[in-house]
Amino acid sequence: MTLRDASTGGGAGPVRQHAGMSETRRIAVLTAGTSAPSSSRRLGDRLAAATGAALERRGIAAEVDVVEARTVALDVATATLTRLPSPSLARALATVLDADGLIAVSPVFNASYSGLFKSFVDLLEPAALAARPVVVAATGGSERHSLVLDHALRPLFGYLHALVLPTGIYAARADWFGDAGALGARIDRAGEELAAAIAALPARERSEGAEFEADLEDLLRSVD
Ligand SMILES: Cc1cc2nc3c(=O)[nH]c(=O)nc-3n(C[C@H](O)[C@H](O)[C@H](O)COP(=O)(O)O)c2cc1C
Repeated sequence: MTLRDASTGGGAGPVRQHAGMSETRRIAVLTAGTSAPSSSRRLGDRLAAATGAALERRGIAAEVDVVEARTVALDVATATLTRLPSPSLARALATVLDADGLIAVSPVFNASYSGLFKSFVDLLEPAALAARPVVVAATGGSERHSLVLDHALRPLFGYLHALVLPTGIYAARADWFGDAGALGARIDRAGEELAAAIAALPARERSEGAEFEADLEDLLRSVD
């Protein structure tokens, strides 16, 4: 499995050949954590690793691109107002749009997904994630807010017609220090589900060069 940080310019590159694997699929991690280090990023990385391992057990290589929304936060605000994504934001959006499967992780802010997370997703065309396998995940300070998965994240991606997988992952602060095995088992289950869904679908065509420009135009049209 290879992992790139798309928010710092390393994402959405050409698909490489991986020894011993006949196919390659791309996973995007969209995380909206604001802390450094970020527990949302940590959860996204864990989910990506579990998904990558489950794909590799199926003979499929995994390439992971991580988009940290905080690195393009100002660009998200500007694009919301001007409808013009900066090159970094366009690359981040294309990374999400190009992926065969998405891991979406938001911190819980005031009992819902964060404003930054929602604003990033608001820049996606409503049909852009149709039928795309998505794992929803959230981190919070309190274990009492785990229903954010069901009252906020599932409806959002359901509206976007994504294929939201049955297992969502919520990690409260205590989960990282308490029974780490319980969180790990849930992460593995979500990774298995995402890998199975990705493997069942044909690999998505890559938008590079002219195709990337076309995506950008679609994106700009979509926010008219
Ligand atoms: C403005 C704000 C609001 C928050 N609201 C909640 C909340 O309603 N419920 C909760 O469990 N945690 C809440 N938290 C805690 C964060 O969800 C938690 O620390 C999260 O894991 C941070 O993610 P990060 O490390 O990726 O930035 C809030 C934090 C901030 C800064």
